Amino acid sequence: MNLTELIESRQDQHLSELYEFLRIPSVSAKSEHKPDIERAANWVADHLRSAGFKTVEVIPTNLHPLVYAESLEAPGKPTVLFYGHYDVQPAEPLDLWTSPAFEPEVRDGNIFGRGTADDKGQVHIHLKALECLHQFHGKFPINIKVLIEGEEEVGSVSLWDHVQANKEKLKADALLVSDTSMLGKGVPSITYGLRGMNYYQIELTGPVRDLHSGVYGGAVPNPLTILTELFAQLHDKKQRIAVPGFYDDVAKADREERKALNKLPWKKKDFERAVGAPGYLGEDGFTTVERIWIRPTLELNGIWGGYQGEGAKTVIPSKAFAKFSTRLVPNQNPARIAKLVEKQIRKLLPKTVHCKFEVLSTGKPWVAPYHDRIFHIAQEALQKGFGKKAVFIREGGSIPFVTGYAAAVPDAEILITGVEDPDSRAHGANESLHLATFDRACLAEALLLRNLAP
Ligand code: BES
Ligand code: MN
Ligand code: MN
Repeated sequence: MNLTELIESRQDQHLSELYEFLRIPSVSAKSEHKPDIERAANWVADHLRSAGFKTVEVIPTNLHPLVYAESLEAPGKPTVLFYGHYDVQPAEPLDLWTSPAFEPEVRDGNIFGRGTADDKGQVHIHLKALECLHQFHGKFPINIKVLIEGEEEVGSVSLWDHVQANKEKLKADALLVSDTSMLGKGVPSITYGLRGMNYYQIELTGPVRDLHSGVYGGAVPNPLTILTELFAQLHDKKQRIAVPGFYDDVAKADREERKALNKLPWKKKDFERAVGAPGYLGEDGFTTVERIWIRPTLELNGIWGGYQGEGAKTVIPSKAFAKFSTRLVPNQNPARIAKLVEKQIRKLLPKTVHCKFEVLSTGKPWVAPYHDRIFHIAQEALQKGFGKKAVFIREGGSIPFVTGYAAAVPDAEILITGVEDPDSRAHGANESLHLATFDRACLAEALLLRNLAP
């Protein structure tokens, strides 16, 4: 039996294990799921042990545990660090799911459930590629470290502290991440750029208490109205962000890169099917892939205040709230951007409200020169695994660990190859993963490891 046959013969087992993993509702944002988080961490640790790792640790942190494993028994060979996350986004609103979020189900060749794509399915690819490789060779052909965290969806704060304190332990020649998308279903893709992100929350307070809107309305500031006026002023007519200085440090993609990105077999139809809006908009002068991959944004993520229950309540609320974020691109500095955004917001707000401004999390953008050696090795392995040429893409999402690690271990090469596709609906209802992609990615990853240790 060769490696391909071994992996193929395991398909059913891989799938039934993935079901187990997906049934654990490891939602990092909600404290009621703390026991599930613990269970998911232990599940990963157990599966690392059965994959062939003798050193496996579940490391407690201030919030959710990290899972770490290593096998350093290939002297003279390079060391690869694997990264992924076992935590998932909340599944709400639950009524939008065709099958329950934490009761995975296969339909039309796709497995549905929270975490199938982001990121449990992709963590499972790592685990199973490693396990098959270990069984096939009777050992790992390369030195391996594995770090699977439980706070990615809430900003990776504990992980960041852990990396700072354990630089030597986490040192590797290459970092391998599988937590991103493919350009299209079944199109193996290597991501060489991610956007960074600052996440903010503001609280506006007008009147010290909620007021009768008839008795007081017309003579007092309404923080909800003021909040909506504020956000209406943060973009101009060309969909540019109206914060002075915001674009100062944005790296201009050179003509060659823009040409290459726009020539990719990216399907507008797939994109529009995933979005389903009656119309589209974005910054003037840029194509859709440029708008989502190489340009910064400011997005309102949530806005609340006042009465939202059944029927009517005539009230002028004391407070109004908003959560919003800025996606950042090279060479924007998150700390500087946060200052500029706060300054502009304070400038636009009238004196009739107080504003509390918070930065909840921050992460730097990342881009790599994809002509580096490791990208070619990866392209070859992906091509063999998928039977299709791999493409080089940038992406709009953020993985705080990637830039954190790049700063802590500057010499490490970083390789990101994800398997979400335009139908995956990560973070949404009916999240899914294409099963054929799972098997191919497993093979591609095993081949990649072998090629990294000739
Ligand atoms: N896996 C995603 C990031 C991602 C998805 C990158 C698709 C590229 C393509 C990750 O789990 C995620 O959702 N990250 C958050 C950031 C975090 C700080 C909450 C994001 O991008 O919103
Ligand atoms: Mn993810
Ligand atoms: Mn995510």
